[in-house]
Order: sequence, then C-alpha cells, then structure tokens
Amino acid sequence: MIGTSIETAAVHLQAGEVVAVPTETVYGLAGNALSEKALATIFEVKNRPQFDPLIVHIANAEEVNHYATDFPDKAQQLAAHFWPGPLTLLLPKQDIIPDLCTSGLPRVALRVPNHPLTLELLQKLPFPLAAPSANPFGYISPTTAQHVADQLGDKIPYILDGGACRVGLESTIVGFEGGEAVIYRKGGLSVEAIEAVIGKVRAMQHSSSQPAAPGMLKSHYAPRIPLILGNLDELVAQNDPKTTGILSFKKKFLQIPDNQQVVLSSTGDYAEAAQRLFAALRYLDSLPIRIIFAELLPEESLGRAINDRLRRAAAVR
Ligand code: TXA
Ligand code: MG
Repeated sequence: MIGTSIETAAVHLQAGEVVAVPTETVYGLAGNALSEKALATIFEVKNRPQFDPLIVHIANAEEVNHYATDFPDKAQQLAAHFWPGPLTLLLPKQDIIPDLCTSGLPRVALRVPNHPLTLELLQKLPFPLAAPSANPFGYISPTTAQHVADQLGDKIPYILDGGACRVGLESTIVGFEGGEAVIYRKGGLSVEAIEAVIGKVRAMQHSSSQPAAPGMLKSHYAPRIPLILGNLDELVAQNDPKTTGILSFKKKFLQIPDNQQVVLSSTGDYAEAAQRLFAALRYLDSLPIRIIFAELLPEESLGRAINDRLRRAAAVR
C-alpha cells in the first residue's frame, strides 16, 4: 500500500517489518538497523546477497556517537556541511550495530537523509533505519513511490510516499584511511563540493569481486534492454530508429520518435540530469525496443556520478 502516513510506517517498523521510505537520493527499503530479524527481511525482500552491507540512517549528527567508536575531524566537518544530505560516512562501528548490517565489516555506513517525512519518522523511532535502495538487487534504483510499488509492492506492507526524489542519485560514500578521506562511491554530493570543505580526497578504484562498497559492483543499475554507450550521432546514423531508444544529455534527435528518447537536461544542468536519470532508464527499459543508446556526460560535478551509473548500466552481464 502507498500512503503518506508517518504513523503507519512507524507502526510497521516497530513490529519489525520493512517499509519503503523516501529520501532525497532514492527510495530506501527500511527496517530497524538494530534488529537481526528486520535486517534479514531487508536482504530477503531485495534478494540481496548478505555480503553487501546496508547504510544506517540516523536523525542527526549527534547520533553518530551511539553507533560509531570514532568521529574524525574531517568527518565532523563534512557532516556539519552536508547533513542532512546525500553523504554517507564510513566509521568504525560500535557493537550495538549487528554484523549482519555491515556484512561483518569493521565500519558502519551512516547517513542523515534530507527528506522531511523520513527525518520525522527517524525522530519518532527509538532505533535507526537500515535502508538499501528499494529495488531488486542489481536493477535501477527507484526515485518515486510508484517505482517501488512496481517491483516490491506485493512484498512489503507499506510505501511511504514523499514524492519524486530531488537528487536522484545515491549518496556519495566517504571513508577515512589514516586521516585521509577516500571516496568509495560517487553519488549525489559532488567530489568538488567535498574538496571545497576538506581539501583533496582520493577516489577508490572500482573492484568488482570483494567490493569495499558493493554499489561498486560492476553490473548494477542495469536495465533489461541492452544499453550501449557511445557517440549518439554515429549510433543513431547506423541503426534502425524504430527499435532504438536514446538517452541523451542535452540534444534531441529528429530521426528518433519522440517517445523513444529522453533528454536529461536541455540546458545541460547536471543536477537536473541526475534527478531524471533513473526514471529515464526505467522508462526506456519499458519500451518495445531492441537497444538503448546513451552518451557519457563531461567528467565534472555530478556528471562523474552519472557516468559511473551509466557505465554500470552498460556493463556486460
Ligand atoms: O542514497 C543512498 O545511499 C541510498 C538511500 C536509501 O539512503 N541507499 C543506498 O543503499 O544507496 P545501497 O544499499 O543501495 O548502497 C549502499 C552502499 C552499498 O554499496 C554498500 O555496500 C555500501 O553502501 N556500504 C554500506 N555499508 C558499508 C560498510 N559497512 N562498509 C563498506 N561499504 C558499505
Ligand atoms: Mg542500491
């Protein structure tokens, strides 16, 4: 059931059930982060392997001290600047966080999401919320309540509807190694914005087998219809427009039927492109077409995180 009642969501969560909740990035599949039973249900509903740990959502930065044993200076500065917001901090975990939540890893991923309904829900509950994106493992993340309903509607008792997600890309994940900040997943907070606060940061290379942050798994965010990245002018010229879908940054293609193409932002605005990306992929994936062609954006600002998702969507399965 889809609804807007924080109270209903809270009742289900207190009973140990999982519900979908809105955040500014993507919708989350939420459960009591301190309950092994609720955590196990999240993995099961999402069909997610238990080696892929969950982000823990908290109401405010003060709560970090309940769940982490250390809150380094740089982490505190980032939290002060960007929480609530699309930033996840990897910090050494306290014992109260079950190993199931972190897949046995020594750190816990913490984030204060920036959505009024979910912040109010978190303030009401006596526990934090573990929440991965509310999509079946490996598919495109949901940015509306309807996206969640389409895929998980019959598996969960409630979807808290907070409208379309404003950011549209998952949070940027930052950890700390010997005082140095490391980006584990590019996301809705740009590297430039982070560096403006704490100086130069290091970006982790992708690893597909034992990922430090499995959002880094290579084939992820993947539509069912094959997606090819390249030069759109060339790809459009070489292929049958009837069976082709186009995902472009700014430009419209007159040869391709209007309903088979999505322009992410005609003005070239990265935030708008990010906000629309996942819904665009879902839409194109629903069409009776043979292939989706997409182009990379410039490697700057949120263009980097968008390109990361496009490359994974295009990865060979
Ligand atoms: O914006 C977001 O981050 C959304 C919303 C719902 O908050 N959540 C999200 O969760 O994207 P998920 O599960 O799709 O991705 C979480 C990523 C995964 O790649 C996970 O492995 C990594 O964070 N992660 C979580 N806990 C970790 C830990 N303890 N150590 C290393 N990586 C961790
Ligand atoms: Mg995900």
